[in-house]
Amino acid sequence: MIKLILIGFMGAGKTTTANLLSQKLNLPMLDTDQLITEQTGQTPGTIFELYGETYFRQIEQDILQTAVTANGILATGGGVVEWADNQTLLSEHKSPVYYLSGSFGQTMERIIDDMNRPILRNSSLSEIGVLWRNRLPKYEAAANVIIQTDGKTPEEIVDEIIAHYEANYA
Ligand code: S3P
Repeated sequence: MIKLILIGFMGAGKTTTANLLSQKLNLPMLDTDQLITEQTGQTPGTIFELYGETYFRQIEQDILQTAVTANGILATGGGVVEWADNQTLLSEHKSPVYYLSGSFGQTMERIIDDMNRPILRNSSLSEIGVLWRNRLPKYEAAANVIIQTDGKTPEEIVDEIIAHYEANYA
């Protein structure tokens, strides 16, 4: 059973945070995007490009359903909340779901030049802004805990999550 799940927009810092959490808590780290790449032999970018978003979301959903039964820290792709069934799975899961929440500006600064992310590659900044506004309530609905990340180092974010986890879920 997964111990702790991270959600948030692209560039929220989910993978970095999950890596640090895994080191500090001595637990395995899983990442839905990495699992998709391992299972299919193709990156999310390539899958989007070749087969489209719906096909990608189906694989992502299958991977998520299996990943939550494993042991460790789970980082998810930013669009995992797009499908209502995934939102329900996350919100009803026994393990706490931490939503890494930052401002649009600080989040974009981390990823704006990343051409490996298909949604960034194919959208204008204003289209990404629309996606952002549509997704925020979905992250909030899926999350147990909202972690504000603006102005914090990865270490500070991880320490905050661990303190919260130990006080409430350990
Ligand atoms: C996506 C986010 C990506 C990846 C895919 C789609 C999204 O993960 O799953 O490119 O729809 O927001 P990251 O949040 O790790 O970039």
